Amino acid sequence: MSDLLVVRNLGKVYPLARGEYHVFHGLDFEIERGEFTAIMGVSGVGKSTLLNLLGAVDRPTEGQVLFDGENVFTLPPLRRARLRNRKVGFVFQFFHLLPEFTALENVCFPVLIGGGGWPQAKERARRALEDVFLADKADMRPRQLSGGEQQRVAIARALVNEPQLLLADEPTGNLDWSTGEKIIRLLLDLHSRRGLTSIVVTHNEKVAAFCRRIFLMDAGGLKPIPRT
Ligand SMILES: Nc1ncnc2c1ncn2[C@@H]1O[C@H](COP(=O)(O)OP(=O)(O)O)[C@@H](O)[C@H]1O
Ligand SMILES: [Mg+2]
Repeated sequence: MSDLLVVRNLGKVYPLARGEYHVFHGLDFEIERGEFTAIMGVSGVGKSTLLNLLGAVDRPTEGQVLFDGENVFTLPPLRRARLRNRKVGFVFQFFHLLPEFTALENVCFPVLIGGGGWPQAKERARRALEDVFLADKADMRPRQLSGGEQQRVAIARALVNEPQLLLADEPTGNLDWSTGEKIIRLLLDLHSRRGLTSIVVTHNEKVAAFCRRIFLMDAGGLKPIPRT
């Protein structure tokens, strides 16, 4: 089987003070190993909610996500946490770096959380920073870095544990177009060099043009956009 992700009847409802908010239901799709997929759709439609479910950060109200054949939400919590730590890398719009720590330390955290010690974490973080061409800025704090550099640190952090799946939630949404394009090129390059499966949420038509497969999310769910 070459699908990395199999999504079946996936639904998410947020409880609100007054009733419930139904974000989506009945999502069914597969993501093939090695695929680079874009998800588009207007703000508030549920793209981040979906990525959080695919990355096992949040739980669905109904349905299943099979990751490499494993039913993510019936795994015991520790095994699910391990899957998230080792097999999934996340990149966000606002980078989410810890401001008090250096670039190198930020990249170390997923290794430390996974049970590695500082020497191993630092060695792997240095390599990950080399992969995003930031080895020379390892000791800088996020505020000393440009937006594009901060996003490259975040990409190094997402990849330091050598995940199978990379999830990027509007990774260029906070960057100017030319910096954003460099980030997308870097993601595409890392995607093929590391044999990743990547899913990128984006509003940018040009960014989506780099992808092999595009889904449009709307109130009716998730539909593949036919490619010419
Ligand atoms: N933790 C939450 N509690 C309640 N409602 C939420 C929560 N997170 C998101 N929502 C709502 O769910 C909908 C989808 O949000 P989101 O997945 O962030 O959309 P998108 O990423 O497409 O902009 C929005 O209406 C949002 O307000
Ligand atoms: Mg979002």
